[in-house]
Amino acid sequence: MKSCLNSLKVSALTLLIIGLVTISVAHAAIEGGDAKKGKKLAKEKCKYCHVAGAEGGTITPLSKTQRQWERFYSKDKHNKKAPGTWDKINPNELTDIMQFMYDHAADSPQPETCGQ
Ligand code: HEC
Repeated sequence: MKSCLNSLKVSALTLLIIGLVTISVAHAAIEGGDAKKGKKLAKEKCKYCHVAGAEGGTITPLSKTQRQWERFYSKDKHNKKAPGTWDKINPNELTDIMQFMYDHAADSPQPETCGQ
């Protein structure tokens, strides 16, 4: 009986740990990019497809919340919607762009529209 209780404790602890890890992953932030550079880069690398009338439609930081940007980026969703279109953007530049989107997202402290 005692060992049974112990294993119950262990599995409760395991569940708790899994739960905490899940929460911290779900709330991960986009960090480490340079949002100022990202703003310039977004104009160069994203805008030609993402203004009104262009193939991707209008996209600005305000298009998503911070959590939505984080998920969009971490789940590589662009590649599913428009395969290959990010292939020529180098990963550091992409991080800067995503930092700009994230820092100025719809629910961020400083929402911004990228001058559109
Ligand atoms: C070569 C054209 C092209 C380039 C460059 C491009 N995109 Fe896209 N993007 C698309 C297309 C096409 C879609 C799909 C639009 C749709 O599904 O209606 C898309 C979709 C998106 C979406 C999803 C919108 C939604 O429905 O949630 C986001 C966000 C986005 N792009 C951001 C970016 C960012 C940020 C960059 C620059 C790093 C970028 N795109 C560069 C063509 C492009």
